[in-house]
Amino acid sequence: MKTLFLLHFLLHLLLVSQSLADAEPWKESARVDTGGLSRTSFPKGFVFGTAASAYQVEGMASKEGRGPSIWDVFVKKPGTIANNGTAEVSVDEYHKYKEDVDIMAKMNFDAYRFSISWSRIFPNGVGKVNWKGVAYYNRLINYLLERGVTPYANLYHYDLPQALEKKYKGLLSDQVVKDFADFADFCFKAFGDRVKNWMTFNEPRVVAALGYDNGYFAPGRCSKAFGNCTEGNSATEPYIVAHHLILAHAAAVQRYREKYQAQQKGRIGILLDFVWYEPLTRSKADQLAAQRARDFHLGWFLHPIVYGEYPKTMQNIVGARLPKFTKQEVQMVKGSIDFVGINQYTAYYMYDPHRPKQTATGYQMDWNVGFAYERKGVPIGPRAYSYWLYMVPWGMYKAVTYVKERYQNPTVILSENGMDDPGNVTLRAGLHDTTRVNYYKSYLTQLKNAIDDGANVIGYFAWSLLDNFEWRSGYTSRFGLVYVDYTTLKRYPKMSAYWFRKLLSRKHH
Ligand SMILES: *[C@@H]1O[C@H](CO)[C@@H](O)[C@H](O)[C@H]1NC(C)=O
Ligand SMILES: *[C@@H]1O[C@H](CO)[C@@H](O)[C@H](O)[C@H]1NC(C)=O
Ligand SMILES: *[C@@H]1O[C@H](CO)[C@@H](O)[C@H](O)[C@H]1NC(C)=O
Repeated sequence: MKTLFLLHFLLHLLLVSQSLADAEPWKESARVDTGGLSRTSFPKGFVFGTAASAYQVEGMASKEGRGPSIWDVFVKKPGTIANNGTAEVSVDEYHKYKEDVDIMAKMNFDAYRFSISWSRIFPNGVGKVNWKGVAYYNRLINYLLERGVTPYANLYHYDLPQALEKKYKGLLSDQVVKDFADFADFCFKAFGDRVKNWMTFNEPRVVAALGYDNGYFAPGRCSKAFGNCTEGNSATEPYIVAHHLILAHAAAVQRYREKYQAQQKGRIGILLDFVWYEPLTRSKADQLAAQRARDFHLGWFLHPIVYGEYPKTMQNIVGARLPKFTKQEVQMVKGSIDFVGINQYTAYYMYDPHRPKQTATGYQMDWNVGFAYERKGVPIGPRAYSYWLYMVPWGMYKAVTYVKERYQNPTVILSENGMDDPGNVTLRAGLHDTTRVNYYKSYLTQLKNAIDDGANVIGYFAWSLLDNFEWRSGYTSRFGLVYVDYTTLKRYPKMSAYWFRKLLSRKHH
């Protein structure tokens, strides 16, 4: 009896500890406060999803025929990634995609925004196809559809094939325009019978600025004055790269429209990051500084796409260093979106630094602005774990309204929004993510207000479903609605996941 009792007791302990995470009271969705928000707060057909990118979640980075991307080379430089992290395994969505899609379905999400790794399809960037890679995306897409989750496929999320970097310096060469369009064309043909929502590039501004102005991201190029790079030119390369990204985007859209859109009946857009820049004071100088920031940040890409030219502020400041579109290119670029994705996380104050003329020139220097994170001693918002992420819900309203007003009220998908905790947060504390719940509640309320005031926003994607590989921060930053134990790769939905489940429930009112 005694042994039996002991055994029973031990078994009980085991079960209790195993189900600790699952048994937390917030799982009772009745106790979750959505702040009055529900699906009916948003327009009919509004889509809710989560977003991720291939390199951050797939793992299998050097397996099953995938060729290296510029990030695989970059992460190997000692001291680059926090705690020497790599994306070799990450959260292994390559194998665990069914589990992840099941979680999305369980949390009532309508859609998943993933990216397709170019070098998993074309290990050399061009030429020979890796059919194992094609098969992976087919499995993912088919399972999403099986579970009623709509696939939103993005073709580029920071991960240029290293072969093209080697062959012609990647994005610095105009050869990338055709090679990207060919890759896109292949994807439209292979997956477009089932994928109806396409995006060309995620955050091309980040690619150009962090890759070529301060060298913080791959391929790590910049002028010596602005970072720790061995090669590069911050005065010219960011602009050349951005120009090629815009042309590559437009060339891919042209292929889609000419060859596929009529039969496949999908839509295509681009994903742009945007920070709300609020003037620090009411002075004319600070207002102009904030406008320069908006033009150099969002206008760099959206202005050519909507109006066929770079913003006048940029033309005036950058001068001859800013490439020009030919007449034919303007035709291809102007109007090259069915929708624009806006990634929105944060807001900063901008001021005119009244700086004497600088000797070193670069993209960020060209803005000629000062950044401030408080006004008269009051912080703009509390900071998340990432140094750049201040939680400023009203910035969402202003950013979305600005896009409406300055860019002819385009169709917008709010394509990323979220906040992060430190990587070493305990499981228990990580699951009890009240700050994240409040972030989503307040940002979604502001998004709703902007929509009610006329912004044409048709969808919203939270970043991200899972904790994952956060670029330079490696695994020290957790953006997930679902906690991942990186030793077991077990997934644990956080309170915020259940918050979305309640928000998106179709049963309650
Ligand atoms: C990262 O790798 C470098 C070089 O291999 C090593 O010196 C360092 O201790 C490692 N850091 C951590 C946090 O593991
Ligand atoms: C350059 O390296 C130093 C020392 O590792 C570091 O403190 C600094 O932040 C780096 N600068 C950039 C722009 O990455
Ligand atoms: C996480 O790491 C930070 C910085 O190293 C430290 O200050 C903090 O106490 C750690 N938190 C936990 C829960 O271990």
